[in-house]
Amino acid sequence: MEIFQNISELRKEISGGKFTLGLVPTMGYLHDGHISLIRRSKGQNIKTAVSIFVNPTQFNRAEDLDNYPSDLSSDITILEREGVDYLFTPDLFHIYPEHFETEINVGSVSLPLEGASRPGHFNGVATVVCKLLNIFRPDTVYFGQKDAQQCSVVQTMVKDLNIDVRVVVCPTIRDSDGVALSSRNINLSKCERESAILINKGLFQALAEWEKGQKKASILKNIVRQKISSSPLNHLEYVSLARQNDFIEQNCAERESIISVAVMVGSTRLIDNVVLK
Ligand code: PAF
Repeated sequence: MEIFQNISELRKEISGGKFTLGLVPTMGYLHDGHISLIRRSKGQNIKTAVSIFVNPTQFNRAEDLDNYPSDLSSDITILEREGVDYLFTPDLFHIYPEHFETEINVGSVSLPLEGASRPGHFNGVATVVCKLLNIFRPDTVYFGQKDAQQCSVVQTMVKDLNIDVRVVVCPTIRDSDGVALSSRNINLSKCERESAILINKGLFQALAEWEKGQKKASILKNIVRQKISSSPLNHLEYVSLARQNDFIEQNCAERESIISVAVMVGSTRLIDNVVLK
C-alpha cells in the first residue's frame, strides 16, 4: 500500500492510470463497517483508495472532536491486510491551507435531523467530500447506510454539481448484539453499551410493526421512542420518519421511508436508522 499526505504526489501517482478507482472516505479508527466498504470497492474496481482525515469542520462541538478516537498504526495494519492500494492521510493544512474560503451548502436535505442537531455539520461533510472527489477523481465512492442523511447530502451534491462519480451506499454492519458499528462505540461503558442495544431494538420493533401493516408515523415513532427511553442512560435527541432521498418528514410510512434516530448514550452520541422495506 502506498501512503500519501501530499496531494500533488498522490495525484501524480493516480492520474492518467488505466484502472478503475474506488474511494472509501473515512475518519479512521476503522471497524468492520469500513472494511465492508473496502471489500465492496475491491470487488468493483481495479484499485481501491482510502482516506483518513478527521475533518474538524464537520464537528460543531470541540469536545466531540477531541474525543474522536484514532489509531493510525492499527488502521494501516487493517488496510494492508485488506489489500488497499492507496492511503491518503493528509494533515489539516493539506486540506485547509491558509486562506481557504469555500464552503458547500447542499440545501434543504442538509437542514433537518443531523443538520439541525449539529449546525454546519453537513457543510463540513460536503466540502471535504467534494475536495476528496476532486483530489482522487474516483469512478465510485463508498458510504455506509448508517449515515443515511450524509449519503443523501452527498448524492444531492454529486447530482447538482455534475460530479462524475457513482455513489454506492453499503448496508449498516451490526455487532452480534445489534448495535450498529461506529468508531464512537469504543467510548461506551458496559452499562451504556447495554443501553445502546435498545436503539436497534426500538428501530427493528417499529420495522416489524410496519411489516404487520402499521403505517402511522406517529405510532411507529412512538414505539422507537418508548423502547429507547426505557433506559435512563439514553437521551433521545430525535426520532424521524422521513423520505430517504430528501429527509422530508412523513405522516404515513411508505416503502423505502426511513426511521432515523440520534441518541446520547451517556456522553456518546450515536445515530442509527432502519429502512422500511
Ligand atoms: O462518514 C465519515 O466518516 C465522514 O463524515 C466522511 C465522509 C469521511 C467525511 O469526513
